[in-house]
Amino acid sequence: MQESVDQPADPNVRWHASAADAALRARCAGQRGVTAWLTGLSGSGKSTIAVELEHRLLQAGCLSVCLDGDNLRHGLNAGIGFDAAARQEAVRRAGEAALLIAGSGVVSIVGMISPYRTDRDRVRARHVAAGIPFIEVHVDAPLAVAEGRDPKGLYAKARAGEIKGFTGIDDPYEAPLHAEVVLHTAEQSLAACVAELQKCLMIQSHGAPAAPRL
Ligand code: ADX
Repeated sequence: MQESVDQPADPNVRWHASAADAALRARCAGQRGVTAWLTGLSGSGKSTIAVELEHRLLQAGCLSVCLDGDNLRHGLNAGIGFDAAARQEAVRRAGEAALLIAGSGVVSIVGMISPYRTDRDRVRARHVAAGIPFIEVHVDAPLAVAEGRDPKGLYAKARAGEIKGFTGIDDPYEAPLHAEVVLHTAEQSLAACVAELQKCLMIQSHGAPAAPRL
């Protein structure tokens, strides 16, 4: 773990370095930490993929934790709105939580719309500075497909003007330019998307597509 780079702390608050390094932690945990950051429109499939991926990884003996944007808004991100500054803060907090989890040797899987490129890039930079792998995953579904699914009826509300600033309708979604993984959920099955990510994360965390069974 390392000092914050973009928000200097109060001068009277000092960073206290850990005596442990990533190698010691990995030896203790039996795996290396990594963050998979799933970004995409509401209804693109982030939560469905993230939950299934977490389950599969755990069944394969890989310790992983899913941080879902909606769920975080019940706790860590409770009370945070949806204007640009609020989303920036929501993403920053989720990024810091993911970094703490991955820094402990655990696979952290974040599923958030995280619509703005600079916010995601900041989270990436924090991981890079800490030497923790960051895998940006674009869960890519055309707006028409996501809106057609509309699992929570929110697109309909946004179209009716009952929700303002809804991503993809009257607020932008900035697709990643250099995502490590792009999943096309309108064409690929859930199983195929999960299998692709599972393989990628097993290699990152265990150096091989499958962990030794416990
Ligand atoms: S983010 O933009 O700040 O990353 P986050 O992933 O935490 O979003 O939360 C998105 C969820 O909030 C959506 O799945 C949807 O259920 C709900 N939501 C409510 N208002 C909005 C809005 N204006 N834009 C997008 N999602 C919204």
